[in-house]
Formats: sequence, C-alpha cells, structure tokens
Amino acid sequence: MNIRLASGKEIPIEMHKVRIVQKIHLRSVDDRLRALEEAGYNTFLLRTRDIFLDMLTDSGVNAMSDNQLAGMMVADDAYAGGESYYRLVEAVQEILGYKYVLPTHQGRAAEHLIDKVFLKPGQVVPTNYHFTTTRAHIELLGGTMLEIYADEALNTQSTHPFKGNIDIQKLHDVIKKYGSEKIAYVRMEATTNLLGGQPFSLENMRQVRQICDKHGLLLVLDGSLISENAYLIRQREPGYAQKSVAQIIKEMCALADIYYMSARKNTCVRGGMIATNNERYYLQLRDWLPVYEGFLTYGGMSVKEVEAMAIGLREMVAPEVAGCAVEQVKYFANRLLEHGVPVVTPPGGLACHLDARRFLPHIPQNQYPAGALSAAVYLASGIRTMERGTISTDRDPKTGKEILADLELTRIAVPRRVYTISHIEYAVDRISWLYKHRDLVKGLKFVEEPPVLRFFFGKLAALDNWSKTLCEMFKKELGDY
Ligand code: F0G
Repeated sequence: MNIRLASGKEIPIEMHKVRIVQKIHLRSVDDRLRALEEAGYNTFLLRTRDIFLDMLTDSGVNAMSDNQLAGMMVADDAYAGGESYYRLVEAVQEILGYKYVLPTHQGRAAEHLIDKVFLKPGQVVPTNYHFTTTRAHIELLGGTMLEIYADEALNTQSTHPFKGNIDIQKLHDVIKKYGSEKIAYVRMEATTNLLGGQPFSLENMRQVRQICDKHGLLLVLDGSLISENAYLIRQREPGYAQKSVAQIIKEMCALADIYYMSARKNTCVRGGMIATNNERYYLQLRDWLPVYEGFLTYGGMSVKEVEAMAIGLREMVAPEVAGCAVEQVKYFANRLLEHGVPVVTPPGGLACHLDARRFLPHIPQNQYPAGALSAAVYLASGIRTMERGTISTDRDPKTGKEILADLELTRIAVPRRVYTISHIEYAVDRISWLYKHRDLVKGLKFVEEPPVLRFFFGKLAALDNWSKTLCEMFKKELGDY
C-alpha cells in the first residue's frame, strides 16, 4: 500500500511488522571480491554468510505470515488422505475456482508432469515468453517453445502497460503454420518473469481463449506470479479499477484449462501445484504423480508447506500482499531512474531489472554484460542479484553455438515482506555509484560450462582483472564498506 507523506512524496508503506529476524552481514569490499572469485563470478555460488541483501530471487525466500506458521503446527502428517490436502483443495476451489488439485514439489515438477502428459515429440508450445525451467522440460521431451510476444515486449524503455500480452496475429500465424494437431498447448505466464515481470491483460487472455476454443487447443496458465499480474490489471486495465484482486484472479483462472504454479512466490511457501476443472486431464496427470513426486495428498511437498500453502492462497489476494512487491519494485525503479540508471520500464512484478545493455554498452553480448553487471553490483554493495541474459540462455544443443539472449537483464528481486525502504535506498545508492563508474566494468568468460541450465553451476572469470580495479575505486571513494 502506498501512503502520501505530508511533503507530497509517496512511499510504499510496509503493512506488516517484524516479529522474527535473521541477522545479515555486510562484508568489506575486499572480502566480497574474495567470495566472488571463489564463486566463479556466479552469484548462485555465493554463500549466505557473504551476502548483505539477498535479491537473487523472490522464490522460496518470502516472509511467511503468523497464520501460515501457526498452520504448519497443525499439519496432518498422514502419508495418504492427509487433512492438510483437503484444506488445500478447499482453498484452491475458493480462490482459483478449480475442483482438482495435484501438489508437486516445485513449479518445475508441475511443468515436467504437464509436458509428460500433454506434449509429444515434435510438437510446439506457443507462449508469451519462456521461463528457463519451462523451456528445458519442453525441449527435453522433444518439443519447441515458440515465443509470440508483441515486439514492444523487448523495448526496455517502454510505457506499454501489458508487455506480457500474446501477439494475437502471431498466434494465428503459428496455428496456420503448424496446424492444431502439432500444438501441444498454448501457455500464458502471468507476469512474464524473464521479460521483467510484465503482465498480460484480461482482454488479451480472453482473445487467446477464444482462439483456443475455435481450434480445440488447451490453454495452460502459469500462475506463479498471478497475484501481481492481477494487481497490475487492476491498476492498468480499463474497467478493472473497481474489481478486487480476488475477482480478477478468478476471472483469469476461469479462462484456463490447466493451471500450474510455483508456490514459492505468491503463496510464500516451498512447493508447487497443478489444478484443473477437467476430470480427464486430472486423472491423466494423477497417475504420474506418485511416480515422480509423491502420493496425491502431498505430491513431494512437506505437509507443513501444504497446510501453509492453503493459507497463503487466501492471503495472496489481499491488496497489501498482492501489491507489496509491485509497489516496492516501482519505488526502487523510479529512484534508480532519478539517478539516470537504465531500468526496465514500466516496472513490473517480482523484481527491479537493470538493462545491462544500456548500463554497460561497451560489453558485447558474448562477454555477458548482465553477468558482469550482477558481479559488479555484488562488489559495490554485497547485494546478490541474478543474471537473466545470455548466460541464462544455454547454447544451441545441436550446434553448440552461443544463443544471444533477447534481453540482457540483471534482476534485483524483491522478496515479499522481507526488505524495507532503507534497504532499497542503500541499493539505489550503491547501484548509482556503480553507474558513475560503469566504464571500469568489463566482460566475463566461462572457465567451467555445464551443458544444461549453465547459469546454475557455471564458473566464469573477469576479463582484464576489472573486478580489482573496481574494488580499488570503491575503497578510494567509499572506504571498506
Ligand atoms: N514458472 C515461473 C514463471 C517461474 O518464475 C518459476 C521459477 C517456475 C515456473 C519454476 O518454479 O522454481 O518452483 O520450480 N522461478 C524462480 C525464479 C526460480 O527465481 O524466478 P520452481
């Protein structure tokens, strides 16, 4: 929720108070350089003890509510038939409007099952944009993802309110080219994570639904970030200002045949799930659940998390929960823009994104500008961010050629209800300092490169020892911290 101060300035006020805390550490810049070198310039390989603000992801690191923690104490441990599952089913029916629920241990496990059942080798999956794990599962099963976003989606200096929309003409073209039998399903990701958390509009989803109906195609909704998409629809789509986030979420879900999500984001737990109203789809999926995940009533999740997920679903529709990341991201992005720092606009859900191509225009894409920027942000601040660019895009599996990403983003995720405005002010200060010294930052090169999802475990090195030069400048101007 935003509050207007007497000065006229607006701030996203935290609508919760802190009751449990975790100590964090601010290491000196020399220690940060040592830690980064050990981690092979890959922020995934840093340890918590070396991180000041952990903004790598908003996944599995959100603050749970007191009610969720209380729920964990009464979770039912039964292997089969556990009451926690039935409470989850009730919450899904109430909030999302689906009858059948299949818990999975994470969102990517839901993707695996959906592809196992609904994708045949050689088929395609048109989508508004890929997510890394989504694409990996589709490709592992012999399918291909076709990204059919509007051209504006790649403009990082845009004011377009719905850069997550599917381009309707491109959907018609795909159907014409491949024919409906070669299309496994159409996928819409609610706030496209890798485009910068950009939402789609309900009008767009309705049009996609009509086309799917006409051609007998399945519509799959990735609702990992659904409450933020709904919150942004309420703010940006004509006719929705008077509707509640809860009503908008229901409307979105009613348009999809199959819903899945990572529960690690909006519901603030560690897990995932698939839901549907179609009994046949449910039964097809259900048969594989115990093979890969666990029995139906826990699906590979801890039952404590199943119980907390039911509560998280009901909580995620409250505007102060659905909007807490969105409003902090907006504040963060606008403060960086005041300093001239290139960020993706309009600000979306989940994270503030630096546009590494504009931040570091002197670094070519095959020297990984977004990876270099993530490393530099860590050196300048102790803040852990994530590369979302060419490093996160694996090489072409057939030719081994580097695939240059559409966007080179450094994602500064905003975990929900975790950091305060003073943390964000610190981040703005250090990133603005780095922007002034951007010429000192150079590229990276791989020294160890795994073949799949290389961003997780790959190790890199700094070209021309730029990291040392940057740290010297930091010490000269700001001291050790
Ligand atoms: N779909 C979307 C839109 C996601 O953002 C994620 C995960 C997944 C699926 C996979 O879910 O992690 O529970 O297996 N996003 C995390 C991130 C990893 O950092 O953005 P998962």
